[in-house]
Amino acid sequence: MLICHCKKVMDSTIREAARNGAKSRGLIGRVCGAGTGCGGCLPAVDEILEDVRDESAVHVSPLRILGATG
Ligand code: FES
Repeated sequence: MLICHCKKVMDSTIREAARNGAKSRGLIGRVCGAGTGCGGCLPAVDEILEDVRDESAVHVSPLRILGATG
């Protein structure tokens, strides 16, 4: 899906950039140009950044932290 109409950037490109370390709007803009025109796509860029952040979050059970699991 086309996210940034100004720079013609697809969601897959933004997602890949985020997975490769572009973790902010500014870095995404530098890597692929998304968000560097009118700025209208920035909320969508933020959503993708959040998705990728969630993907990479390590989910650790509280029981594990407490040593309550075998
Ligand atoms: S739509 Fe992305 S900067 Fe305008």
